[in-house]
Amino acid sequence: MNWAELGFAYLPTEQRYVSNYKNGAWDEGGLTTDATVTISECAGVLQYSQSVFEGLKAYTTKDGRIVCFRPDLNASRFVDSAKRLHIPEVPVEKFLDAIKQTVKANAAYVPPYGTGATLYIRPYVFGSSAVIGVKPAEEYQFRVFCTPVGPYFKDGVKPLTLRVSDYDRAAPHGTGNIKAGLNYAMSLHASVTAHEEGYDENMFLDPATHTKVEETGGANFLFVTKDGVVVTPKSDSILPSITRRSLVYVAEHYLGMKVEEREVPFSEVADMAECGLCGTAAVICPVGKIVDHGKEIYLPSGMEKMGPVTQKLYDLLTGIQMGTVEAPEGWIYEICK
Ligand code: PLP
Ligand code: COI
Repeated sequence: MNWAELGFAYLPTEQRYVSNYKNGAWDEGGLTTDATVTISECAGVLQYSQSVFEGLKAYTTKDGRIVCFRPDLNASRFVDSAKRLHIPEVPVEKFLDAIKQTVKANAAYVPPYGTGATLYIRPYVFGSSAVIGVKPAEEYQFRVFCTPVGPYFKDGVKPLTLRVSDYDRAAPHGTGNIKAGLNYAMSLHASVTAHEEGYDENMFLDPATHTKVEETGGANFLFVTKDGVVVTPKSDSILPSITRRSLVYVAEHYLGMKVEEREVPFSEVADMAECGLCGTAAVICPVGKIVDHGKEIYLPSGMEKMGPVTQKLYDLLTGIQMGTVEAPEGWIYEICK
């Protein structure tokens, strides 16, 4: 495997985990080599998009252990997402066990330390039984597969160009704060047209007033002000990113910076010193330029490299994940040695 050449694409590995929910209970679950799913043509997921998912990674540390980063937070967000779509929750312990089994069984696919690649893990659950009237399914399937990946954006960590989207990815009081496939279907048209027009991603504004910064199709925002304060949008319609929550902690406790989680009027963006997108897939990706209907905003950090604070946050976060920087208690979940 040429690990350093990997992009963010699906490459099936040997084993995946499957568990079925029927008659009000989850079965024991276990590994399978079958990468296909067979369900009713009328399954809840196919008709009414009853499905939620998670995304996390396994890393090889410098001393050769395979670890995950804060999977307990993915487990609890998975519970929150499932509840919102009336999907039976997968208990936290079952979720963690499924992750452990899947990663262990595919240990050969966890990219070695220093290659820049990681193993992306995709847990998901969907309504598998037939529904034709609009209601929750009675049966569900929970699966976990994994795939080795490189950087989410093709140029690695080169600053991105975003456009302010006219479309919304979420509704006020809708499902923007959970990880449901339907939110991503909502964002596809905005993302395809952004790419066609030469942008890397969209900046979505709040769906009620279109005046405040929300997030992109797959990552939260972090800004650094000219006075060195880390600012991140607070909103009920964005996904509570685990990467963002971790970076905010790192900024406060490792870098001694002031952090503000608050509404961020779009009008403030032009005065920011740095801007980054953060998420499991994106890690932390610098933004160089934002285009608002023809008006260009250039971040002072430029189009060539990350700004200094973004770079420090990136180095600390990836150091914690790969075991070269001491992690806060409970952040690193060891899968195997
Ligand atoms: N926002 C959206 C819409 C996402 O899809 C993701 C990816 O998971 C994130 C934010 C980042 O969340 P996390 O850091 O938990 O991966
Ligand atoms: C992630 O970062 O895990 C995501 O889910 C983003 C995208 C691949 C949907």
